[in-house]
Amino acid sequence: MTRNQASAEFYEFPELLSELKTCRVQSRWKMTEPSPRKLIIAIDGPAGAGKSTIASRLARKLGYVNLESGAMYRALALKAIEIDISFDDEDVLDHLAHNSRIKIAPTLGGNRVTLDGRDVTQRVREADVSQAASRVSVHPKVRAWMVARQRELGENGGVVMEGRDIGTKVFPEADVKIFLDADPVIREQRRIQQQHARGISAEAMAEELRERDRRDRTRANSPLEPAKDATVLDSTSLSEDEVLERVETLVEKKMLPAASE
Ligand code: DC
Repeated sequence: MTRNQASAEFYEFPELLSELKTCRVQSRWKMTEPSPRKLIIAIDGPAGAGKSTIASRLARKLGYVNLESGAMYRALALKAIEIDISFDDEDVLDHLAHNSRIKIAPTLGGNRVTLDGRDVTQRVREADVSQAASRVSVHPKVRAWMVARQRELGENGGVVMEGRDIGTKVFPEADVKIFLDADPVIREQRRIQQQHARGISAEAMAEELRERDRRDRTRANSPLEPAKDATVLDSTSLSEDEVLERVETLVEKKMLPAASE
């Protein structure tokens, strides 16, 4: 298999490019050109804390790409479901990862996900895949494969990568590290609202979130926790705009020295 069977097709979509241009002009830094310093921005945190929305809005403002690392775990989990592989069999899952083509590509509505050339963007968001993703992600060999691919995707900077271990494992040297958290009840409510249209019952959704949280935070390998140098933001009583503004302030501090060079 080739070295890189996971990739991000950053500029596959014309609408994304035009949106990026618009966002550069609208940015609070009033830049007409992108900053010469292309940062790596890590946003970690539990499900429902608002990572995806913030990461996507921030990336658009900066003209960066937003990569949802969780989508890669989801794609692998889907493949395991489809070919009926146990979520507990680390070696088989590792082999499966090495022999899968998992691609994520930013679009205006979130990352587009393809698995072996098939668009699975919608399918990987369903409840069974969410649980399976959390289960396959406990295995060190699976994580090692994912982390290596994610590093390749972000190493040139100009990226907002979100997940659980971006600031601790994928990019320990990231320029900006945010750990976005919120009260569990609020996170459940947000997730229920987001998924309402899909007809999954509210109680099942809340239970799914609690179980995933517990597993993601307590696994032996790379548990969900803030990096020591991360800024922890609690979004419980903040609006989306307020969270974004705080994140932008942190990013701005990192950009200013480069801008004045
Ligand atoms: O971010 P998400 O909900 O799409 O992630 C799905 C699962 O993938 C999550 O429950 C744990 C795992 N995951 C991980 O272990 N590390 C990451 N960086 C991202 C996701």
